[in-house]
Amino acid sequence: MIKAFVFDAYGTLYDVQSVADVTERAFPGHGEIITQIWRMKQLEYSWLRSLMNDYRDFWTVTREALTYTLGVLGLTPTATLFDDMAEAYNRLTPYPDAVPALIGLSGARRAILSNGSPQMLDTLVGGSALRDLIESTISVDEKRVFKPDPRAYELVEERLGVKPHEVVFVSSNGFDIAGAKRFGFRVARIVRVPQGALTQEISEQRSNTAGALRPVTLYKALRTQEEALGYAPDFVVSSLADLSRLAVAT
Ligand code: 2OP
Repeated sequence: MIKAFVFDAYGTLYDVQSVADVTERAFPGHGEIITQIWRMKQLEYSWLRSLMNDYRDFWTVTREALTYTLGVLGLTPTATLFDDMAEAYNRLTPYPDAVPALIGLSGARRAILSNGSPQMLDTLVGGSALRDLIESTISVDEKRVFKPDPRAYELVEERLGVKPHEVVFVSSNGFDIAGAKRFGFRVARIVRVPQGALTQEISEQRSNTAGALRPVTLYKALRTQEEALGYAPDFVVSSLADLSRLAVAT
């Protein structure tokens, strides 16, 4: 029986691309490429920090990834502009399906398990309409290691008192889906970048540029695929609203 729905935060409940307004204002014409490289580097740095056994919280990781990204693109921000872009991560927009889905799941426990630091999550969740719909916002910070390390997922049982098989873990992020499945949760993948939406963009670019894809399109395409690690999700949904059917059926 499903007792709890536990959600990833960034890219699952909150749209990480919603920082693009701020990055575009900071560096016109570069807004989207900044968000794409920044997100990939942010995740990569979280894994590197875990592997190097040199933990820094996700706020530091996020800022270090932004420094790297702007360096790659040859962009030099003022300290204020840099802080504005980093701060935008604490005001991400929830996806439109998040609030109605969480209301629809009110018969089960509803929590977040995120790599975000406690302060980032307090600001993000506390400042959004999800605040009263989430029972517990759990940060991996106390374990000083990031998902997909199993020690991070152990926090769900420690905090909520539910066994892994009683949990549906919901994420859009391939690494997190694989990690949560390997850990023993039932896992639902929410598709945030549907492959179909990119088909036209890809085919137009292929015909105009002899097969080459623009970097932004390539980065988006990377988010359409599940990881090929042998840990497929149990469920794939195109809207969080579909989770309420799982709550009844499982
Ligand atoms: C999370 O919220 C980083 O998306 C990841 O944990």
